[in-house]
Amino acid sequence: MKAAVYRRYGPPDVLQIEDVEEPVPKDNEVLVRIVATTVCAADWRLRKADPFFIRFMNGLWRPKKIPTLGMEFAGKVESVGKAVTHFAIGDEVFGATGFKFGAYAEYVCVPEGRTLAIKPDNITHEEAAAVWFGGISALHFLRKAKIQAGQKVLIYGASGSVGTFAVQLAKHFGAQVTGVCSAANLDLVKSLGADEVIDYTRDDFSKAGRIYDIVLDTVGKSGFRRSMKSLKRGGFYVLVAGSLWSSWFGGMWAAATGAGKVVSGIASGGPEAQTFLKGLIEVGKLRTVIDRCYPLEQIAEAHRYVEAGHKKGNVIVNIPRR
Ligand SMILES: NC(=O)c1ccc[n+]([C@@H]2O[C@H](COP(=O)([O-])OP(=O)(O)OC[C@H]3O[C@@H](n4cnc5c(N)ncnc54)[C@H](OP(=O)(O)O)[C@@H]3O)[C@@H](O)[C@H]2O)c1
Repeated sequence: MKAAVYRRYGPPDVLQIEDVEEPVPKDNEVLVRIVATTVCAADWRLRKADPFFIRFMNGLWRPKKIPTLGMEFAGKVESVGKAVTHFAIGDEVFGATGFKFGAYAEYVCVPEGRTLAIKPDNITHEEAAAVWFGGISALHFLRKAKIQAGQKVLIYGASGSVGTFAVQLAKHFGAQVTGVCSAANLDLVKSLGADEVIDYTRDDFSKAGRIYDIVLDTVGKSGFRRSMKSLKRGGFYVLVAGSLWSSWFGGMWAAATGAGKVVSGIASGGPEAQTFLKGLIEVGKLRTVIDRCYPLEQIAEAHRYVEAGHKKGNVIVNIPRR
């Protein structure tokens, strides 16, 4: 089968299309023919080993454990292992390979029961492929912040993959949402339900005198001081992305003084979270924002675009059927 493979860490051009062996499902696995996958932040970070510690998990000098990137996908079940009970050949599915990656390929094997579900009928494979990374992350962090109806929530970086899902989910939980993004994305963020939008290129959210129960930063650029200044005493400052300084030392200071609670770490989610998001998609309360779609052959271009840090929502990679 065709797959995008990288044999050394580096710029997008290290990604090359190669013929590799097709995977064979184990007894508890489902073989999925991938229709669409995405380029998410984890993909380009792994490709260039940024931050450096990635080398300790994926090979010090070159990528050894994970030669094919791609964390999330949508596609069709091609075959199933002997012990699989919930999926059948031909089912349309969506899910994640998680930290095993491997979705930049025609086929992938996924165990049933954790990160695979039947695709909602009312969305395309492209839309379904991008639900996992942004949607599960946004849900994980909003739940960590114990979001409640009526709260005031600021989403900093509201136009990216995590941000677009976070705005919609925070609205679903009944919060009053302020989204921070650049002028080009104000209409998009409003269309996702934000009650108020702030253009970060023009206005400093911390100078408006508003106080939030939750400040959720998806890009690590809200600034510790500015965010604490805008946070209700005892509120949650959530760093989906951000510096270790802010999350560790800032977190200790905020806890010691009672100023707030700093939440960071790695998002996780399982069948319950996926079913929750799927339910919202099916009733039209959650949608995937798609910026661009690239064919697998243009994977390097797709990585270049995403790494620049200004995509709107999600970038999709289509895997053509041979
Ligand atoms: N901890 C975890 O488990 C976890 C999970 C998921 C993601 N992450 C991390 O979270 C980060 C975001 O992921 P993502 O996929 O949502 O990113 P993304 O989609 O690439 O984010 C792009 C968006 O960020 C906005 N942006 C860039 N600079 C900004 C700034 N200074 N202020 C406000 N917005 C700005 C851009 O808007 P403009 O074009 O308008 O600037 C763009 O729409 C990544 O670093 C990722 O590694 C962590």
